[in-house]
Amino acid sequence: MDIIIAENAGFCFGVKRALELAARAAEDDSRPVHTLGALIHNPQEVARLEAQGVHRAESLEEVPSGAMILSAHGVDPAMEAEAKARGLEVIDATCPFVRRAQDHIRTLAAGGYSVVILGDPAHREVTGLAAHAQGKATIVTSAAEAAALPFGGKCGLVVQTTQRPETLREVVGVLAEQSRELRVFNTICEATVKRQESAQDLAQQVEVMIVVGGRISANTARLREICEATGTSTHHIETAAELDADWLSGVQRVGVTAGASTPDWVVAEVEARLRELAL
Ligand code: F3S
Repeated sequence: MDIIIAENAGFCFGVKRALELAARAAEDDSRPVHTLGALIHNPQEVARLEAQGVHRAESLEEVPSGAMILSAHGVDPAMEAEAKARGLEVIDATCPFVRRAQDHIRTLAAGGYSVVILGDPAHREVTGLAAHAQGKATIVTSAAEAAALPFGGKCGLVVQTTQRPETLREVVGVLAEQSRELRVFNTICEATVKRQESAQDLAQQVEVMIVVGGRISANTARLREICEATGTSTHHIETAAELDADWLSGVQRVGVTAGASTPDWVVAEVEARLRELAL
């Protein structure tokens, strides 16, 4: 059985940067180090960080002192301000591409635009983005939802970094007809686009696709959707232990892709397990 790893898969620039900042913060053990929520959406890597002394807190109340690392997805600016006001050492691991989207939202809100965000309303990146419009942003997940919005005079669109370009095109088409003036900031990140294109290419060449990544990782979920849309049998797993020999019965070529927050060592374990199952 041939095992083919997608050309672009696994850790992106923003995730690597966040992990480097966390590792550096943990070197100084004179104070506790916490992240607010998961630093990245990969439970295996978050567990590895915990072992290094980077603890996960769900709220500022759980962090009486020390350093607080802001996640790669960004946070509500009020939360960041409160952490500083409490005297915490704030380490900003927000991905610069997310930061850029936040900046665009503030510019639009200050310019009197109705801010629309294309993204998953339950995802922390998106709730953080909305907070930069002081709660005045409308979040849509599709062109159909955008079509249901009231006609807007001046409308500004910003996109969750992990959305699909096709969805953005559809939403832009709808909003262009519904607004007198439309400003669009395509804030889908390059790493996302490359991983999606590689996953689609590979899925078209194999009989089974394995998508590796955190269950709540938005970009991993998109990769799964893209692979499924090709008609190729697709399985989303977090670890090698979830691989099922039945999926590979009679299969000659299997493809593997991984979300932007999936560490190389998890992908290597998946590849090794596939080799065992192929024997
Ligand atoms: Fe940043 Fe894109 Fe990764 S937004 S965290 S480089 S997926």
